[in-house]
Amino acid sequence: MGMITYLEENKIIKIDTNNTTYAMQIVRDKFVSHIYYGKKTDNLENLYTERPLSFTTYVASEGVAFSLDTIPTELSFFGSGDTKDTAVKIKNQNGDSVTLFYYQKHNIYDGSKPIDGLPYSKNGKATLEVIYYDAVSKVKLYSYYVVFPESDTIVRYNKLTSENDVLVQKIASCQLDINASDFNVVTFSGKYCCERLYTEYPLHIGKQSIYSERGHSSHHFNPFMILKNPNADENDGEAYGFQFVYSGDFEIQAEKLANDTTRVLAGLNANTFAWNLKNDLVTPEVILTYSDKGVGQLSRNYHDHLRNHIIDPKFVFKPRPVVLNTWEAAYFNINEEKLYDYAESAKKLGMDTLVVDDGWFGARNDDSSSLGDWVVNTQKFKGGLKAFSDKVHSYGMNFGIWIEPEMVNPNSELFRAHPEWVLVSKDRPYSLGRKQLVLDMCNDEVIAYIVDLLKKAFDGVKIEYIKWDFNRSLTEVGSSALTVEEQCEAKHRFVLGSYKLHKALTEAFPDTIFEGCSGGGGRFDAGLLSFVPQIWTSDNTDPVSRLKIQYGTSFAYPLSTISSHVSKTLINKVEASPDYDFRFFVTLAGVLGYELDPTAISAADGEKIIQKINLYHSIEDLILRGDLYRGEFSPTAYSFAVIAKDKSSLYAVAYDLTDKKSATLKINGINDNVVYTDDSGKKYTGKQLKKGIKVNVANHSAFVYLILFGGEKR
Ligand code: GLA
Repeated sequence: MGMITYLEENKIIKIDTNNTTYAMQIVRDKFVSHIYYGKKTDNLENLYTERPLSFTTYVASEGVAFSLDTIPTELSFFGSGDTKDTAVKIKNQNGDSVTLFYYQKHNIYDGSKPIDGLPYSKNGKATLEVIYYDAVSKVKLYSYYVVFPESDTIVRYNKLTSENDVLVQKIASCQLDINASDFNVVTFSGKYCCERLYTEYPLHIGKQSIYSERGHSSHHFNPFMILKNPNADENDGEAYGFQFVYSGDFEIQAEKLANDTTRVLAGLNANTFAWNLKNDLVTPEVILTYSDKGVGQLSRNYHDHLRNHIIDPKFVFKPRPVVLNTWEAAYFNINEEKLYDYAESAKKLGMDTLVVDDGWFGARNDDSSSLGDWVVNTQKFKGGLKAFSDKVHSYGMNFGIWIEPEMVNPNSELFRAHPEWVLVSKDRPYSLGRKQLVLDMCNDEVIAYIVDLLKKAFDGVKIEYIKWDFNRSLTEVGSSALTVEEQCEAKHRFVLGSYKLHKALTEAFPDTIFEGCSGGGGRFDAGLLSFVPQIWTSDNTDPVSRLKIQYGTSFAYPLSTISSHVSKTLINKVEASPDYDFRFFVTLAGVLGYELDPTAISAADGEKIIQKINLYHSIEDLILRGDLYRGEFSPTAYSFAVIAKDKSSLYAVAYDLTDKKSATLKINGINDNVVYTDDSGKKYTGKQLKKGIKVNVANHSAFVYLILFGGEKR
């Protein structure tokens, strides 16, 4: 049986992944009712029910039993009888927004289609296309379901086309009506320097939503929500996940109703979005998953999906540079002499890439000027970038550089020449953020200019790594490149323009690895990950704070995407922050780098760094490819293991912030009768590790213990 099956007799369309089933039923030949999402099953009969209720309206042509207010649907339409929050709202030419689409037909085909202009999941195994039509607005709606059996994920998105010039006021990418409401909502919320903290609360009557209206996915809410059984934990229980593949404004919302049902809507934020349908509209994707093995399995489904279908295959499993980043070491105070010393010392410590962060261009000596002037500062780099990069390479180091291409300072050559190239609402003053403005990504001319300027700046320069920053939120979003009618599209068009810029620059430097960044982790999302294989997780490099940030980040995103640096200057120090070993062990929930002055490291600390980088290389493949099994997480303790897919090796890390001298390390996800050996030759069976082993801890108030085993079959 295929992955998508049409059961003619009951008009049921069934979608199967390896462990889950999703099903819908075409009812009364016009509507599509959602009937099931959960554990794999063939038992789909009698799930569809009509539930007439007093004081509900019904579709006149269908009789009193058929109410759009009470049947679960695949997509719901504004103003036509479904009084919950609905997925689609279109302003008709007559001026009202009553929306109603009827099912027309559906198609099932192998593989999946590319999406033009948006990041999307590649290599789907099969696609279901459900086509709806509204004869009044003359709008056609294509609703897509793409199947990824191995990762137990289903991707949903919609496309709208019309012969008429009507206005789309709302279009969710995904709706899920669930015939249950006893859930906890898990979101990943925070703020600058404190991103993606695990937040769990019971779903209660009404709407609970997370969103961004900042123009980027934001530090405040990640575009990702889990709905779980209140008792579900890492290893057991049911959980649904909704992950939006988009880097701009979004909204994910769960609505609990008095009849104990739940509706989830996920997609573009209707508050800040509208679209004139003279141009077709394709929504970004939502990646859905379901796990009955707890949130641990849900995370592994997402990790597999992102690694295999979102992140560029060229980089996803490639060992990442161990960078020495100049930011926390020197801030703007950089010049070539100093950085040659850095390169030479960093090489001796085992690092492999010198990254010149902010401050290398224009007259940039602080954050008040020069964004947009991507020309090397020859006072700091006398011989220019090529000579500098060549010399860095002569020390055996690769070269990386920082850019912030969507931004401009008012104090810059670019702004003086093109004040009309920034986002601003006509006749209004603009707001500043970090003394900067946002370039108008709705304007192709601006994109072409920036691409050209950066190509010139980096022409002939050997660059192995580029850090791409984005240091403010969007305000006064108006574009001089758009017509009056199109202004309502500006926020979405900005994101589409930013994706164009990402495509152009990553294609211009095809062998360079890009790292995303937005004042730390303000743009950490699956949309961006289709251009950059890793993202700077937070400007907060304090290891104790990082534990929580990286823990939260790991729910949606694989460790290979979580850029994690050992830093010396604890600029954002929140709590007591212990020694280099501890800082290193904290980075093992991500890919390693350093932010420190390598010339000022003591011999003893230098030895530790060398050893630890070697250790990192020995487990790097697990970080890039392994399965994550999180252990306990509390304000004082956290542990996790990363296990090879074939269970042949693993590493595990435990952190405890009390002053205990030993701890119990429990490792899930391994087979009972595999024997693992640590580097001292001590053997443990999988069964023992699952039950928990006692480990000694470093003599420090914060400790860590790491084991590395090669598994062998008994
Ligand atoms: C942001 C980044 C930092 C650094 C600075 C440079 O805050 O998150 O890592 O690159 O910008 O200005």
